[in-house]
Amino acid sequence: MLKGRSLIEPDNFSIEEMEKLFSMAEKIEKEESYLRESGRGRVLATLFFEPSTRTRLSFEAAMLRLGGNCLGFAEPGSSSAAKGESLADTIRTVACYADAIVMRNPKEGASLLASRCSPVPVINAGDGGHHHPTQTLTDLLTIRRLRGDIRNLTVGYCGDLKFGRTVHSLAKALARYKEIKMIFISPEELVVPEYITRMLKKQNIEFAETRILEEAMPELDVLYMTRVQRERFFNEEDYIRLKDIYVLSREKMELAKKELIVLHPLPRVNEIAVEVDADPRAAYFRQAKYGMYVRMALLASILGLV
Ligand code: CP
Repeated sequence: MLKGRSLIEPDNFSIEEMEKLFSMAEKIEKEESYLRESGRGRVLATLFFEPSTRTRLSFEAAMLRLGGNCLGFAEPGSSSAAKGESLADTIRTVACYADAIVMRNPKEGASLLASRCSPVPVINAGDGGHHHPTQTLTDLLTIRRLRGDIRNLTVGYCGDLKFGRTVHSLAKALARYKEIKMIFISPEELVVPEYITRMLKKQNIEFAETRILEEAMPELDVLYMTRVQRERFFNEEDYIRLKDIYVLSREKMELAKKELIVLHPLPRVNEIAVEVDADPRAAYFRQAKYGMYVRMALLASILGLV
């Protein structure tokens, strides 16, 4: 179904195609032997021009669990990009060695460019403040697993909604599920981009914006916390002023529904107090694990292993 396809933005795949990936990921989680070794002899390239722990390692773990192999770099200084090689030339070269390419790049649109000059599928692992579609697959799978359905939910996004690409991708994907309400919780300087709110209005999705986390807490079914993205600020003073603006604490959790789930794409800096980790509603480390299962399903699909 997805054989040979690239994934650059969350809506590159239909809802039906994503649902099939989620079912496959759930089967992988339940059945230890499902798809194991199906990727023997296949090679995945992971090209990370920006730091990563979860995305890179979960893709590599996914490929290794499928029986394939991985090559690549975790920072561009060790590649010929440091000598001035263009992205297009890097991609054309890596495509000679690998069956699929996963790439993270600080430039928005870099993955789209890569997919246009690559003869093998390209998966966007984050392009600047733009999109992070495999985090969205992870987030949707986590909601489906822990809430049973991806519809009829009020989802709150909290923190840096301006630069947070995971928020942009998730809002775009959830808008396709319709029976969804969104609440954007951010300081004035970090509000969600206008193209997202315009898209929600066009699709008649109910949404609200607030500056106060406590005000939104009682209404939420899903709380999506995000880190203030230091690396995308032009000025350190603004970052320091805003970085601790929202800290989810045990006290704030008391305002929430008992069925709430708290998600975070991670890494966390200070925006969720460590004391919250013990709350059964804190789902962010389970979310990181679902990320590996859904990436296994994705790789198996685009490599034609199923
Ligand atoms: N969620 C996420 O993209 O984490 P990493 O930056 O560690 O890959």
